Amino acid sequence: MSSKPPVIVRTVSALRAQVAAWRSVGERVALIPTMGALHAGHLSLVDLGRERAERAVASIFVNPTQFAPHEDFEAYPREEAKDVQRLADAKCDLLFAPSVEEMYAPGFSTTVSVAGVSAPLDGQARPHHFAGVATIVAKLLIQCGPDIAVFGQKDYQQLQVIRRLVRDLDLPVEIIGGPTVRAEDGLALSSRNAYLSAAERVVAGKLNLILATAVEQLRDGRAVEAVEAEGLAALTAAGFDSVDYLEVRDPDDLSRLGPGPLAGPGRILAAARIGRTRLIDNMAV
Ligand code: PAJ
Repeated sequence: MSSKPPVIVRTVSALRAQVAAWRSVGERVALIPTMGALHAGHLSLVDLGRERAERAVASIFVNPTQFAPHEDFEAYPREEAKDVQRLADAKCDLLFAPSVEEMYAPGFSTTVSVAGVSAPLDGQARPHHFAGVATIVAKLLIQCGPDIAVFGQKDYQQLQVIRRLVRDLDLPVEIIGGPTVRAEDGLALSSRNAYLSAAERVVAGKLNLILATAVEQLRDGRAVEAVEAEGLAALTAAGFDSVDYLEVRDPDDLSRLGPGPLAGPGRILAAARIGRTRLIDNMAV
């Protein structure tokens, strides 16, 4: 397929100039922030953006401040040429792909951190991660000034951190949470799935099934703590090397729910490791 490639800009000033030009003729703009190595999950967010705005802007920036020193910042897949083709096929209008120096000038010293919702779950396993995410997302929203910004429910805690950030700082943007796009066996698509060996990929496909079973049990009125304990045991039995968490939480502020059966809506979230790969997934209850 040969579609028109997106315009590529690498500076904040060029991004602002293009967005201002669209705005001046009454066109709305959707921003889809990513770290690249784009797959159908990312591209579904571009589609959602294009349904709600005349122009879609994707950003690709592997953000160093959301990786801990021991994490995979250096190894994170970078494939811009392929991503440009994928964005062309998705009819994305513009790609913002800044350098680290463009985003973090020498002496950069401001951090945006969102208390509360950042603290549990991935916030325990990755202590500085959400401050890195909130800082870069705040910057991207201020730099681009979109009407809407689209994020995936796949990273549910991240989505809730960003909703809180936008509310607390009165950022004039509507946040859309797109549904998780999955492989045929239900594994949530992720750029990090590329790290999995064939044997690990089989184990990875069980995470979503274990969560779906837990959702059924909660719907049947089983106690939260029993469902969590059974889910944890199932992950270990399925061959995951370690489990960071499997918990049922409030869908808005991610506070704990239970003990006992659920009285209202919940969200079940899990993170587990196989080899050097850390997988996360979540489902609505
Ligand atoms: P990244 O992991 O590249 O994901 C970019 C966006 O795609 C996020 O909103 C994520 O939730 C969404 N996404 C990933 N896999 C998905 C799937 N299978 N289905 C639907 N959406 C999916 O998340 C980040 O980058 C970064 O933290 C970022 C927000 C860009 C800040 O650096």
